[in-house]
Amino acid sequence: MKVIVCENYDEMSAKAFEVIKELLDVKKDAVLGLATGSSPVGLYKEMIQYHKDGYSYKDIKSYNLDEYVGIDRKDPQSYYTFMYENLFKDIDIDLNNTHVPYGNTEADCKAYEDALSEVSIDLQVLGIGQNGHIGFNEPGTPFETLTHIVDLTENTREANARFFDNDINKVPTQAISMGIGTIMKSKKVLLVANGENKADAIKAMIEGPIDTACAASALQNHADVVVVLDKAAASKLTK
Ligand code: F6R
Repeated sequence: MKVIVCENYDEMSAKAFEVIKELLDVKKDAVLGLATGSSPVGLYKEMIQYHKDGYSYKDIKSYNLDEYVGIDRKDPQSYYTFMYENLFKDIDIDLNNTHVPYGNTEADCKAYEDALSEVSIDLQVLGIGQNGHIGFNEPGTPFETLTHIVDLTENTREANARFFDNDINKVPTQAISMGIGTIMKSKKVLLVANGENKADAIKAMIEGPIDTACAASALQNHADVVVVLDKAAASKLTK
């Protein structure tokens, strides 16, 4: 894994954008895997600025990692809405080329995985949970898992309560998520993390054993991973 440590969130976002820009500049029809959450918002702002500077995303395709179960697409809390508000509405991507998983059945999971197997993700953007989850692959998820329905852990629901009026009872209990096996198929992975509350997960991901106890440790087996951190998220790394 290539690890880049930055002074702060803004520098992390700018460095992460440099990694995406390298791809965008050579492949106008690149396939991006995208994440929601607070970590990539600054990166998406950089992508929006690139569009304002003249770059066109009209042939870019995107596939998101995950979505809550039981929340309508149009709901302000849905990950679809998050992507629309934080990226899609401010760039010229064709909304028909954007994909966010949806549903709660095995057939829904299979449909998303089938759609993914028809393309090849050039670059997958990831954040990381405090418990080391990537996508919503919680600790203990087998590494070969494909798109599946997940029971969210208490820890994840607590962490995400900030998007639900700080009320954990409002946070859905399930999500549909690409599996670790799905994520590992992407050609390149770009993981961004900031803040002290991510430091343990980052240490486990990079320096810990490759073990399902830390889902992100699976990335040690991927040939092309770039991890962009702020100082606080990197603070427990020994090297
Ligand atoms: C989001 C996702 C999650 C988040 C993780 C970190 O689509 O799959 O794995 O990346 O929970 O969330 P933030 O960035 O809000 O700390």
